[in-house]
Amino acid sequence: MISHHLLLCATPSKALCCPDPAIGAASWEALKRLVRELGLEDPARAEGIVLRTKADCLRICAEGPILLIWPEGTVYGGVSPERIESILREHVIGGQPIEQWIIKRMSLKAAA
Ligand code: FES
Repeated sequence: MISHHLLLCATPSKALCCPDPAIGAASWEALKRLVRELGLEDPARAEGIVLRTKADCLRICAEGPILLIWPEGTVYGGVSPERIESILREHVIGGQPIEQWIIKRMSLKAAA
């Protein structure tokens, strides 16, 4: 079972959303490390595992680095290693989105 899938536009080839690739790269390293350290990849986790993927572009292209969290479709802007940690602890684990960092919400088409 999967609880969340996190997609990070960390080091996009066109660098449209984040002009400083160092911030995106550091955020990606933090995301990988924290998902592991917080036990979110543990197959025995009751809520399901957390997947993370480095995306090239999530079609937001502003206020990056951009973090998209499914299944809610929450889009966080301006992420950093510090924000990644807060988002994992408060939103992914705690279930409380951090409203002031959310720039958009997207939804999947409802299943028929
Ligand atoms: S370049 Fe980051 S969302 Fe498009």
